[in-house]
Amino acid sequence: MPLLPMRVLLDHAAEHGYGVGAFNVNNMEQIQAIMAAAQKTESPVIIQASRGARSYSQDNYLRHLMLAAAELYPAIPVAMHQDHGTSPEVCFSAIEQGFTSCMMDGSLLEDGKSPAPYSYNVETTRKVVEYAHRRGVTVEGELGTLGGIEDGHGAGLTGDEALAHLTDPAQAEQFVAETGVDALAVAIGTSHGAYKFKQRPTGEVLKIGIIKEIHRRLPNCHMVMHGSSSVPKELIDIINRYGGQIPETYGVPVEEIQEGIRNGVRKINVDTDNRLAITGAIRKVFAEKPAEFDPRSYLKPAREAMQRVCEERMIAFGQAGHAGGIKVVSLDDMARRYVTMGR
Ligand code: G3H
Ligand code: 13P
Ligand code: ZN
Repeated sequence: MPLLPMRVLLDHAAEHGYGVGAFNVNNMEQIQAIMAAAQKTESPVIIQASRGARSYSQDNYLRHLMLAAAELYPAIPVAMHQDHGTSPEVCFSAIEQGFTSCMMDGSLLEDGKSPAPYSYNVETTRKVVEYAHRRGVTVEGELGTLGGIEDGHGAGLTGDEALAHLTDPAQAEQFVAETGVDALAVAIGTSHGAYKFKQRPTGEVLKIGIIKEIHRRLPNCHMVMHGSSSVPKELIDIINRYGGQIPETYGVPVEEIQEGIRNGVRKINVDTDNRLAITGAIRKVFAEKPAEFDPRSYLKPAREAMQRVCEERMIAFGQAGHAGGIKVVSLDDMARRYVTMGR
């Protein structure tokens, strides 16, 4: 089936009370792993590419790989999403490349590091919404600044400074009304990468309460959790067993994500867990078969390892079994819906 607007997947997820994994890709094997997992678990799925991924794949390779995925899996609803667009121009170019969804991350300035004023966030996000909705494309915005309370990823903030940049539920209400976004990424204490928490997170550093309060105020808002890798010890152990050096670290427990899903989280971003799975599988082949040099001998187990992670998440997030329930909606249909909705 053609790539669908992400909004269609999120609306279905909200209607049926589940979450959709949004998995990052850079190459063919990662797309294959996600699609095989989606097929096996009968899941709708979001595939996303960062600016770095688009540059790595020169855009054109990625576009054709995504078209191949849609062609090979006609029964799987897939949305193609620009992850962390740092300016309206990044989002516009993604739309030109056939992405059916984009994130305007106006929580940070164009450098992708400095926290931006609220007014800048509203202005840039609204600009993207106006452009994208005319074309039926979904828009995700972000309010609050991602970055661990402990570790200082993202904007590089830690401690009290990071706490001050978590999403304010009252401001979230205002932001959604002022921008018309389809989905809202919230900052609740998670960060990108493997080093999120120094121990299993408690409510002090992973604030699911913010999600609950936003859901109470905005029951129809589709929330997005970034930095949602669980960083399983088993995957770290495999890497370290075969020569890696990853120190003890903790991610977001799947049960906390499930609590988020019960409270309005509809999109869950996962990249790091798949990176860990791929790296462990490749290290294992290199360690056990040092005479091997055919790339397929390590890329195939890497792809399988990523597929296993995706399958587990698809089942845990509740999207498994829902592929057949989603009807094709074209970008033109969606653009007309926005007109009816007054957006
Ligand atoms: O936004 C974070 C994702 O994990 C993508 O990371 O910018 O290294 O491609 P990247
Ligand atoms: P992880 O690094 O936790 O996988 O988060 C990925 C992400 O949020 C991409 O936008
Ligand atoms: Zn992110």
